[in-house]
Amino acid sequence: MSSNVEPRDDPSPPDRLLVLGTGGTIAGRAVQRDDHVGYRAGEVAVGDLLAGIPVPAGLGVQTEQLAQIDSKDMGPEVWRLLLARVSQCLLQPEVRGIVITHGTDTLEETAYLLQRVLAPAKPVVLTCAMRPATALAPDGPQNLADALLVAAQPGARGVLAVCAGRIHSGLAVRKVHHYRLDAFDSGDAGPLGLVEQGACTLFQPWLAAGAEQDSKLLPRLLARQPWPRVECLFSHGGADGWLVRALLAQDAAQGRERADRLQGLVVAGTGNATLHADLLAALLEAQAAGIRVWRTTRCASGRVVSAGDQVIPAVALPPAQARLALLLDLLQDLTGGPLPSDAVISA
Ligand code: SIN
Repeated sequence: MSSNVEPRDDPSPPDRLLVLGTGGTIAGRAVQRDDHVGYRAGEVAVGDLLAGIPVPAGLGVQTEQLAQIDSKDMGPEVWRLLLARVSQCLLQPEVRGIVITHGTDTLEETAYLLQRVLAPAKPVVLTCAMRPATALAPDGPQNLADALLVAAQPGARGVLAVCAGRIHSGLAVRKVHHYRLDAFDSGDAGPLGLVEQGACTLFQPWLAAGAEQDSKLLPRLLARQPWPRVECLFSHGGADGWLVRALLAQDAAQGRERADRLQGLVVAGTGNATLHADLLAALLEAQAAGIRVWRTTRCASGRVVSAGDQVIPAVALPPAQARLALLLDLLQDLTGGPLPSDAVISA
């Protein structure tokens, strides 16, 4: 994946917004203009998405195509590129804020990861679209304009998601609809604010900078070895633990010392993270084999209320974010040797 800087802008204003393109429907292209489903995500260059979009007064804009993917295919390769580039650019005094164009499908994972690892003191705003760039009435241009506006707000900080006029915290945002233009919400926390008619209204303070940050996480994530393997599964009627035992057997057959061996399991339970008794038995076997197991809920809304005494700890996060939280937890526990030299970030 090459990183291609497109110097499209007037370099004279000292402060600038950096727009990193990663693909998604916002950069999607369809054959028919009224086709909102049968298009290819990640086709239009980020520099072209900026054409005609108003830039907040007094700021320049620089675009960079970091990746060009359908975000269903997101993974450590692009996440590493994003973590490295965003952390590097945040150190540059002239970068006022960063906007990332992203697919909607895994946006909540990228937002959560960036906030947990970087907890930036400047705004890092993810934006997206539900209709491709070629649609009769695309939603991407307005979302992009709103994201630039949020990134230019004095005092704005943290990883944010801007879609359909709402500003979500990177820790709370989740995709809740597969087709509606307003596809995201922030669960019980509610959005941080709104963008209406070129103005931001905040209901809650910006995220605290540095609050979640462990300075060792970034270099560990950027190191080349595979990230800890954490898999997700569901509790459901008839869940008998077969899948868990199959994973354990596979690991045992291949050797538990492999770098890509299973290290964590997130199970999305029913209701308040309850588990089928047969699945629970298999998960306890996994725990006994050294796999870290966390529970969350498969409910679309709400947060697990933990009784605090369960053998399998519960987390108040949606399953995909819980998977990343467990991955970070595993990384934090690594005693590790010296950090690889290519993991060191400089401005
Ligand atoms: C994607 O996530 O890249 C495709 C779907 C979307 O952006 O809405």
